[in-house]
Amino acid sequence: MKNIYSNILKVNKKNLSKAINYLKKDGVIGIPTETVYGLAGNAYSKKPIKQIYKLKKRPKINPLIIHYYSVSDLNNDAKLNKKFYSLYNKLCPGPITFILNKKINSKIISSAVANLSTIAVRFPKHQVIRNILKELKFPLAIPSANQSSGISPVNSKDVFEEFGKKIKLIINGGNSKIGIESTVVDLTGKVKILRPGIISSSRIGKILKKKILPSSKSRSIKAPGNLKKHYSPGIPMKLNQIRSSKNDAFIIFGKNYKNSKHTFNLSLNSNLNEAARNLYKTFRKIKKRKYKKIYVVKIPNVDIGIAINDRLKRASS
Ligand code: TXA
Ligand code: MG
Repeated sequence: MKNIYSNILKVNKKNLSKAINYLKKDGVIGIPTETVYGLAGNAYSKKPIKQIYKLKKRPKINPLIIHYYSVSDLNNDAKLNKKFYSLYNKLCPGPITFILNKKINSKIISSAVANLSTIAVRFPKHQVIRNILKELKFPLAIPSANQSSGISPVNSKDVFEEFGKKIKLIINGGNSKIGIESTVVDLTGKVKILRPGIISSSRIGKILKKKILPSSKSRSIKAPGNLKKHYSPGIPMKLNQIRSSKNDAFIIFGKNYKNSKHTFNLSLNSNLNEAARNLYKTFRKIKKRKYKKIYVVKIPNVDIGIAINDRLKRASS
C-alpha cells in the first residue's frame, strides 16, 4: 500500500542531512520544537519567506519569529541589552521569544519581520531543531505550522493535516512536550509580556528583579497578530461553563465532571501542564467530529493556566 505520509521523515542522520540541504537550497520544511511544530525557512533569503507566508495564508503585517542556535549568531541581527542577557542565561535554549531592536545592517529579510524595526528571536530547545540550526550559517524564520489563525500543530501528522504534500519534508520529532507556543516578551522598552506561555511573567520578573505587567494589562500590544482571533478550531466556543448542552462538545478539567461521549478531559488529575499539552489535540479532535458548539469549563488562571486561558479566549473571540 502507498504510504500517504511519505513526506514525514523519522529522525536519523540521513534525514537530518536531507532537511539541512533542503533548507540551504531555499526549501521550507515542517520541523518539531518543544512548544509546537513550525514551518521553517532561511530568514536571510526571500524565496522561503515568501513561500511561508503563502502556505500559511498569513497576513503580511504579521511578523515571524527568527530562530537561532546561540546568542553569538544573533549579534549581527539584533541590539542586545542587559535584560536580554539575564533572561537568555537563565532560560535559553527554551520556550521564550524576545522582542529586540533590529540592527540596521541585519541580513534578515525585511518582509519576514513585516518591515518592523524590531525582531522576535527564539532559541528552541528541541534536540532535532538544535541539530539542524547548528549546521546552518543562517537563522530560521519559523511560524507555527498551521493555516493562519488556525490550530497550532503538536505532532508531524498535524502538520501533514495542514499542508499535506505542499511541503516536501516534515521531520517527525514526536509530540511537542509543551503543546502551546512560546512566551513572547518585549524587551525594547518597559518589559511586557505580549503572549503568555509556560515561562510565566513572575519567573521573568524574578530574574529581572522587576514586576512585569501581565499581558492582559499591558496596553500597547505591538504585533497585529496578537490582537486577532487566533488558535481557533473555527467553531463557536463558550468559556467558563459548568455544564454543556446535550449534543455539543464539552471540554473539562479534573474529576468533577460526568464523562460522556461528548466530554474531552484536558487533565483528569487537574495538571495544568498536561492540559496545555492536550489543548490543541483536543481542538483538532473536536473539529474532526464536526461539533457545532464547544463548551469549556473554567481553567485555573495560574502558571501555564494563564496561557491556556489566553488561547481559549482568542479561540473563542
Ligand atoms: O513557540 C513558538 O513561538 C512557535 C514555534 C514554532 O517556535 N512559533 C510561533 O510563531 O508561535 P507564530 O508565527 O505562530 O507566532 C509568532 C508571534 C505572532 O503573534 C507575532 O505577531 C509575534 O510573535 N511577533 C513576531 N515578531 C514580532 C515583533 N517584532 N513584535 C511583536 N510581536 C512579534
Ligand atoms: Mg501561530
